[in-house]
Amino acid sequence: MKQPPKEVTVTEAEVAAHWVEEEYVYPPEEFIRQANVKDKSILERFKEENFPECFHEYANMLTWDRYWHTTLDTSNPPFWKWFVGGKLNASYNCVDRHLEEYKNKAAIIWVPEPEEEPDRVITYQELYVRVNEFASLLQELGLKTGDTITFHLPMVPELPVSMLACARLGIIHSEVFGGFSGQACADRIVDAGSKILVTIDGYYRGGKWIDHKANADIAVEAAAKQGHKVEKVLIWSRYPGQYKSQSKLVEGRDFLIDELLKNHKGKRVPYVPMPAEAPLFIMYTSGSTGKPKGCVHSIGGYLAYVAGTSKYIQDIHPEDVYWCMADIGWITGHSYIVYGPLAIAATSVIYEGVPIYPDADRPWRIAERLGVNIFHTAPTAIRMLRRANTNPAKYSFLFKHMTTVGEPIEPEVWRWYYKVIGKGKAVIVDTWWQTETGGFLCSTIPGIMPMKPGSAGPGVPGIYPVIFDEEGKPIEAGSGKAGYICIRNPWPGRMLTIWGDPERMVKIYYERFCKDKNSKDWRDWPYMAGDAALQAKDGYFRILGRIDDVINVAGHRLGTKEIESAALTVEEIAEAAVVPKNDELKGHVPDLYVSLKPDYIPSKEIEEKVKKAISTIIGPIARPANVYIVPDMPKTRSGKIMRRILACISNRRQDLGDVTTLVNPAVVEEIKELVQGKEEV
Ligand code: WTA
Repeated sequence: MKQPPKEVTVTEAEVAAHWVEEEYVYPPEEFIRQANVKDKSILERFKEENFPECFHEYANMLTWDRYWHTTLDTSNPPFWKWFVGGKLNASYNCVDRHLEEYKNKAAIIWVPEPEEEPDRVITYQELYVRVNEFASLLQELGLKTGDTITFHLPMVPELPVSMLACARLGIIHSEVFGGFSGQACADRIVDAGSKILVTIDGYYRGGKWIDHKANADIAVEAAAKQGHKVEKVLIWSRYPGQYKSQSKLVEGRDFLIDELLKNHKGKRVPYVPMPAEAPLFIMYTSGSTGKPKGCVHSIGGYLAYVAGTSKYIQDIHPEDVYWCMADIGWITGHSYIVYGPLAIAATSVIYEGVPIYPDADRPWRIAERLGVNIFHTAPTAIRMLRRANTNPAKYSFLFKHMTTVGEPIEPEVWRWYYKVIGKGKAVIVDTWWQTETGGFLCSTIPGIMPMKPGSAGPGVPGIYPVIFDEEGKPIEAGSGKAGYICIRNPWPGRMLTIWGDPERMVKIYYERFCKDKNSKDWRDWPYMAGDAALQAKDGYFRILGRIDDVINVAGHRLGTKEIESAALTVEEIAEAAVVPKNDELKGHVPDLYVSLKPDYIPSKEIEEKVKKAISTIIGPIARPANVYIVPDMPKTRSGKIMRRILACISNRRQDLGDVTTLVNPAVVEEIKELVQGKEEV
């Protein structure tokens, strides 16, 4: 065993806990025998001297209307273009082309949360019919290629139907996570410039009926305040043909989709062959400023990349039953519930609710009944199931393959996942990637590489990662030193740009380590992911956590500025600073420190008001674990709030570093007492 790695303090943000190197775990024979990749020639095919042509292998998994003439165009760095000249349609690739062989096979199996409700099985034929009908409706409403549309939908099959209908016509969809508030949805509607919002009357979560349409009313109103008019709200029905929301329909603005679809029964809409580099969708993610970034993903490069990685890393075959428990409202769901799996004719299971409802064995009843053999989830869900004493051994399902994604997984939790859920028979891939990257960056290839608990693995085929130190010098593998993980090369799944703000993409991801701004050689433009990582001698990467102002709560990315500005909407609050506090279950939770304007007295009411404001403005996932009302923030002489010190206090670290340079060092002790005192209550 090697020594624990040194801690990085690349920014003031706190990084994840560290652990020692682990031993290898080898894939079982039965898995290897059936794996999509069982021979190591893939490593040859995708090595650097074969770049970028190696990615033809992924592009050739798709059906093209016109073949591309240039694999990678680097003339306008870092706005790389893939498969230039090529034309294709994402909806055709995910639906139509499978009809010949798989028309009667389940494309989607939707499992409602209430256990007494039957599953809804959507075959490829039925998906084709529904996508066409909805596309026909979108056309009637005047939407055309290149327009944007916003969805605020939960985990219902109507979400992939809506996405694929847009893709059919080249309409750019922007799905906002269903758990976000109406206000958060409004900001994303305004940024995307959508005139139409698609929502649903309600859905089930944790045993409760959530009246979701009410959020659309808030969203439309909040968008109007920002000078943006949402012309129409289209509403799916959780129970087809019924409307169960308490919120009234607004005449001329709100329309029930089931009513409108009556005129489109059986309609077929020709798909639009789209340029490979046209946008497929926008996915918003948190960054270091208050404004969410709209990551724009392409049609050709993105779809090729998620199809290829679904096949090689997820090991999906058309005969498999694949269940990714992530939410389609995040990138994982877009890439690995909808586009990747459907592009390769998978059967993709979608579950409406929470994993531990009504009890912690719910996932295994679903897996047993449907014969799920590939399971995909996040460490938070794994920890939650582990704590809830779930009992998979009681059920006869058997996974061949399991994924973990979204945050670092502790080796202890990994081993539990392997032994208890995987029953010692499933391979695990720990896939490290981001909203911006479209698909996996680091992971083992399950049939040909051993697993190592807590490590993501090497770069996936065609991805050449490197770790840089502060000066941009590569850190040697096995040195035990952590630094900035970057990807040296472009890859087809990377985002095209940030919607409406291309410069922001250059600045955030490429400026720091760019060797020469005038260069048109991709080798001079490494992509900086914003995570700290270290690389072991064997080339496996271990991801430590964010180095920027992003907090990863239960695998969801939240910007510190977003949370702080929500807190500042409360009248009494003068200053706010949020830091990540380690949490056994969620990885991190936000701890919020606020100071009050003069003449206000600290009270429980103010704390509650702040929590409520954050839930309303962003959504319940951003709700702070604690709100500490402090007399003042620890500040540098230039007035910068030292979040690093607050993070140390929240995480009970003894060594706070040098506080003498602060303008108000005495306040640190006061805050410490306040936080510790609180904990004893
Ligand atoms: C973190 C989710 C460790 C990381 C797909 C990254 C991970 C951020 C892993 C992106 C992993 C994701 N191990 N950390 N396997 N996967 N992360 O955009 O900090 O929601 O930068 O994409 O999650 O989160 P996002």
